[in-house]
Amino acid sequence: MKITVIGAGHVGATAAYRIAEQQLAKKVVLLDIVEGIPQGKALDMYESGPIGLFDTKVQGTNNYSDTADSDIVLITAGLARKPGMSREDLLMKNATIVKEVTDQVMAHSSNPFIIMVSNPLDIMTHVGYVRSKLPKEKVIGMAGVLDSARFRSFIAEELNVSMQDINAFVLGGHGDSMVPVVKYTSVAGIPLTELMAQEKIDQLVERTRKGGAEIVNYLKNGSAYYAPAASAVEMIDTIVNDRKRILPCSVLLEGQYNINNIFIGAPVKLGKEGVEQILEINLDEPELEALQKSAAIVEENCNALSTLLA
Ligand code: NAI
Ligand code: 2OP
Repeated sequence: MKITVIGAGHVGATAAYRIAEQQLAKKVVLLDIVEGIPQGKALDMYESGPIGLFDTKVQGTNNYSDTADSDIVLITAGLARKPGMSREDLLMKNATIVKEVTDQVMAHSSNPFIIMVSNPLDIMTHVGYVRSKLPKEKVIGMAGVLDSARFRSFIAEELNVSMQDINAFVLGGHGDSMVPVVKYTSVAGIPLTELMAQEKIDQLVERTRKGGAEIVNYLKNGSAYYAPAASAVEMIDTIVNDRKRILPCSVLLEGQYNINNIFIGAPVKLGKEGVEQILEINLDEPELEALQKSAAIVEENCNALSTLLA
């Protein structure tokens, strides 16, 4: 297993380190356009091997030939959000970067999985899919795992219970229109609605929707990276180990939830084939409408990129 991480910034470097520590690959390649940064960070990670007890090779590079024959490519290249900047503000800049990166990746690896992290997430996943011409099962966006983790952590904190017992799904686009599905949120199987007042649930849903911005407001000069990296690596672990976990991921919907030809967060079974199944769960009318509204926003932004993608 060879895993490449494009972008040696906050998310990319944190993810590369987790992949190495968890020994999910024999070799991790960390690539960035800035000279020296990926090389320095990769060497630093590799030198922690005797302490962390891992033998994963970690190579930093500015050269795509070093990414040749990767099994999985995690794309984190791009600009991060600054305070006051929406994910959509990043659209054109990051679309140009993701297009170039995907073209370079595909010039050196014939059939990799692409896990997208760059924002605006669902749209960048679409860009990666169109440019790579990979099967739809192999191009997957990371956002739902992160948004659900945020929701789960807020619930655990509020109820003072272990994170381990919280199950939650956040579907839809990775933006303010995301859809935390309270109906399927439970604590050790007990529906959340039995344990928490609706007003508190509404507050946590709102905090989840604004979870990215909450961190940006603290950091000032960048966005979240520990939980995003952990989320992306959880998806990689699921694919590498064929765990067949059900995770919310941005995938190409073709009629499910009455959404067509749009990448958006839905519950999927992830395994060694990538997206092995898209689950169509029974949503209440307001949630279904919210999901479709979220998809319409993604579609509008994808349409704005038609020239770039041609
Ligand atoms: P960062 O600024 O720390 O790192 C980005 C890296 O990409 C930089 O090192 C930069 O030199 C590199 N880069 C830029 N253009 C490149 C190119 N053409 N080729 C290779 N590398 C290039 O940003 P951070 O915090 O790592 O975030 C990365 C991206 O991930 C952003 O778009 C951010 O909005 C997104 N993100 C998405 C999340 C999600 O849930 N999907 C969560 C967190 C971040
Ligand atoms: C987040 O949700 C910035 O999309 C990123 O933290």
